[in-house]
Amino acid sequence: MLTIDPLVEPPNARLDLPGSKSITNRALVVAGLADGESELAGVLFSEDTHVMMDSLQKMGVGIRQNLNGLSVSISGTGGGLERPGETLWVHQSGTTARFCLPLAALCGQEVTIDGDEQIKNRPHEELCKALQSLGAQIEYLEAPNSFPLVVNGKDLQGGQLSLNGGISSQFISALLLAAPCFPDQLELNIDGDLVSRPYIDMTISVMQAFGAQIQQVNDRRYVVSPTGYRNSRYEIEPDASAASYFFAAAAISGGSITVEGLGSRSIQGDTGFVDIVEKMGAKVVRSDNALSVTGTGSLIGIDASMKEISDTVPTLAAIAPLASGPTVISDVAFIAQKESDRVTALITELRKIGVQAEKTETGMVIYPGDVQKGTIHTYDDHRIAMAFSILGLVVPGITLDSPQCVAKTFPSFFDVLDQVRVAGDAKLSILAIDGPAGSGKSTLAKQVAKQLSLEYLDTGAMYRSVAAVALAQSASLDDEAEIAEIAERINIRFDDGRVYVDDDDLTEAIRSPEVNAAVSQVAANPGVRSIMRRQQRSWARVRGGGVLEGRDIGSVVFPEARLKVYVTATPEERARRRSLESGRSVEDIMEEILQRDTKDSTRGDSPLVADQEAVVIDTTGKTIHETSDYIEELFSR
Ligand code: DC
Repeated sequence: MLTIDPLVEPPNARLDLPGSKSITNRALVVAGLADGESELAGVLFSEDTHVMMDSLQKMGVGIRQNLNGLSVSISGTGGGLERPGETLWVHQSGTTARFCLPLAALCGQEVTIDGDEQIKNRPHEELCKALQSLGAQIEYLEAPNSFPLVVNGKDLQGGQLSLNGGISSQFISALLLAAPCFPDQLELNIDGDLVSRPYIDMTISVMQAFGAQIQQVNDRRYVVSPTGYRNSRYEIEPDASAASYFFAAAAISGGSITVEGLGSRSIQGDTGFVDIVEKMGAKVVRSDNALSVTGTGSLIGIDASMKEISDTVPTLAAIAPLASGPTVISDVAFIAQKESDRVTALITELRKIGVQAEKTETGMVIYPGDVQKGTIHTYDDHRIAMAFSILGLVVPGITLDSPQCVAKTFPSFFDVLDQVRVAGDAKLSILAIDGPAGSGKSTLAKQVAKQLSLEYLDTGAMYRSVAAVALAQSASLDDEAEIAEIAERINIRFDDGRVYVDDDDLTEAIRSPEVNAAVSQVAANPGVRSIMRRQQRSWARVRGGGVLEGRDIGSVVFPEARLKVYVTATPEERARRRSLESGRSVEDIMEEILQRDTKDSTRGDSPLVADQEAVVIDTTGKTIHETSDYIEELFSR
């Protein structure tokens, strides 16, 4: 459960968003089929792209993540994909499921593909039939035209193919992506309606960047030559569907948000969402390398055909109740078959919070009204979760029942959402106290909080609580996802100096030697950190401020804090203090402290550092009151 903190100030933010999921998964496929080494920059790391990387690796593609964290090097197979030694498991990833079908056929032997329930319930028939007509054999292990299935492409040919374009453009993209590695040329004719055309243009653009030859005879007929792919260095744009949430946030809040790296030459159709908010009354500035939206304080309802930008339907639907008139979204009946039945899901959840909304023949109509607080069911659909989070920025009390589903395409979503709140957070009365273990910051923070009549939060106790629960459940600390799930699930509460997790008093347990030994690893887990940061910020917002003590409060959690203090003491002094508290020998503690310092200051995510703006205070030889009075004076200036 996560209740979204409303904005207290309109945002004024420039955002760097993660790479496009759709481009990442296309570029991974194409680089994996190319001859030689390719380099992809700006790669998105999320559940859907990990699933794609994993599947490609199982088919013999070499993938190495580079140290800068955002690029990958790919050793391509020159089209000679290997038969995976095990089932390709595509989880919930639509692109991976669809793109891997023709790729599996390229292996030329039996390949089993399976995935989660959600993906089994989505349509795949059109693509399966197309592959069969090109000579591939498909055996369905449970239900026709669905996973699990076995593909055998030993007799795969190129040739002529007609495909219906009205259900998902991913069928067409999947065939196009594999086609340069077919034995002969592929001629693809699109019948009937065509949805999400910009995604086909995106596919072609990525393919061409790796040397593919595609002749677009007309807007319904493509001929792909069997040339294979050439290795390349390719830069992936930020994700335009992800950007839609922030453009919507600017439009409804009267603030201003700029997304860097998404410009007028973008190959993503979803940049078209700015046209929607512009029609509703927001001001849009488009440049070569950025898009900016500024809310004007008035939003009108519009009629929007969203066939080409259907992934942004939830974004528009969630803000539509705030417009002055009804909003009609049309030509999107096919989104009933996305991660959830999005038409029904959106209408149901909007009605739950007092909004009048109705299904139409090809979409929905949403009426303006007073939006009430309520708990939104996300249907495990990342776009439902992100869209309603944006509404929660202006409507107090919007709660998501399973916020973690955003990790499918945007694991850092809530961190970026916090960047939108920076202007408001700057007004909070935050005293950030950071420093290494045993520097005296806890005692000091409690004392200063008393002097300033502010509440106090021991953020280290939060990481310790996660570690204690993980140990109690015998979870593997190396399993980052499992530990992050624990962090998301548990409810940590502080009351009268004691620490409760759910209803258990863990005050003593979180100081045990086992937790001391485990906590640095838990605190180095980026998923855990993201969840803890969110909770820490929320704690302070509810109270209008507070004294927060930890390692990254001034540097990462509240970079806009009113005062940042970094407390240190010599290692000998720190060990002596801990020894007095615990009765253990100074030497023992000294070694433990130095090890913890090293782990805390060398981890990749938010290492322990004195922020540039922090006042550094060495407490060696000073009394608590000397230091607390000094901090009180600095804070009150
Ligand atoms: O302050 P402490 O010893 O209770 O902290 C326990 C662990 O949590 C320690 O390894 C540092 C880590 N921590 C952190 O990484 N970030 C914080 N804000 C607070 C603590």
